[in-house]
Amino acid sequence: MRPFRFATVALATAALALPLLGGSASAASPAGPKAPPHAHGSHAPLRAAAPEGFVIGTAVAGGGHHLEQDYPDPFTYDKEYRKVLGREFSSVSPENQMKWDYIHPERDRYDFKQADAIVEFARKNHQVVRGHMLLWHSQNPAWLEEGDFTKAELRGILREHITKVVGRYKGKIQQWDVANEIFDDQGNLRTQENIWIRELGPEIVADAFRWAHKADPKAKLFFNDFNVESVNAKSDAYYALVKDLLKQRVPVHGFSVQGHLSTRYGFPGDLADNLHRFDALGLETAVTELDVRMDVPEGSLPTPAQEKQQAEYYQRMLEACLDVEGCNSFTIWGFTDKYSWVPVFFEGEGFATVMTEDFDRKPAYYALRDTLEDARHHDCGKGGPKGPKGPKHKH
Ligand code: XIL
Repeated sequence: MRPFRFATVALATAALALPLLGGSASAASPAGPKAPPHAHGSHAPLRAAAPEGFVIGTAVAGGGHHLEQDYPDPFTYDKEYRKVLGREFSSVSPENQMKWDYIHPERDRYDFKQADAIVEFARKNHQVVRGHMLLWHSQNPAWLEEGDFTKAELRGILREHITKVVGRYKGKIQQWDVANEIFDDQGNLRTQENIWIRELGPEIVADAFRWAHKADPKAKLFFNDFNVESVNAKSDAYYALVKDLLKQRVPVHGFSVQGHLSTRYGFPGDLADNLHRFDALGLETAVTELDVRMDVPEGSLPTPAQEKQQAEYYQRMLEACLDVEGCNSFTIWGFTDKYSWVPVFFEGEGFATVMTEDFDRKPAYYALRDTLEDARHHDCGKGGPKGPKGPKHKH
């Protein structure tokens, strides 16, 4: 039974680099022309490799930065993309399709088309869905940000939005990111940027959780943010806030780390410790938006050493989550470099996902799969969402 430590997995990582040694960096894809033969000889997709009760997810590409690219909507139009999406993952997160500017384009108009399609795709493919998100400072429609609303009106708008959106997908969403990125890196609430907190005060955050809970009592309700992988000012702020809200019996169920990492920076080695402290509060934890970007000069491909380092980051994130009893959901922010948001948002960085633009598996893919398989073999079941579980013991 989890958690267990991953003494053996380091060896698997070493093996990951091997198929690349014969390949050349100038090959059509960084992982070589074809997916390299796998050291363990397994061809299980990620979702099948995962321990029982542990979901492995991806963002579903569409909206946001995709709208400005010269390809049609990936989720709707790219057949191969959809095939891999259904085959590899047991959880999906709409990348943009449930954000305010997408789902609520005018004050009196909601557009559920894409979100509905994703939820339906998930049902057909036996996947759970992470709802992303309900309260954020970004990607809000102009009618909201620039509207001249009274406090009472704004409160009504948020309440209606949450009730409607969460209610529509009642019973179909496993976890909701209720509050996204409400603190800055210093651990201060975004009292200026975030329209809700600015206009209605910090108490609105608790209300958002209450409204969401009322609309779908079974959905697990999360705080979600970036740069909270480590124990730092920002994650400390969440820890203090969550403690306080739990004391007030606000229905907060989870704390999740996005995990937008870059190999420019060291790996957040205290991730498991950080998650453990939230776990000890009785919360679920999750990794919700992992990608690992790399500096690659324009026109070049990552070197084998870079891909190995990237694979290690992916693996260590997964190991940390597997190490924590209530961390049962692990999501990568897209699975193919073809559609990643990274090159659009981070100049000079890219190749952040686990598959090439041609859907060839990169070392990072195998690192995830090895780690999942290892956990599944050592594990007597991850046990599903936090709740009755067997005793913890290490192997
Ligand atoms: C990103 C999307 O990937 C892009 O398509 C969009 O243009 C901007 O937002 N934190 C979050 C996600 O919570 O919603 C962001 O997604 C990435 C950072």
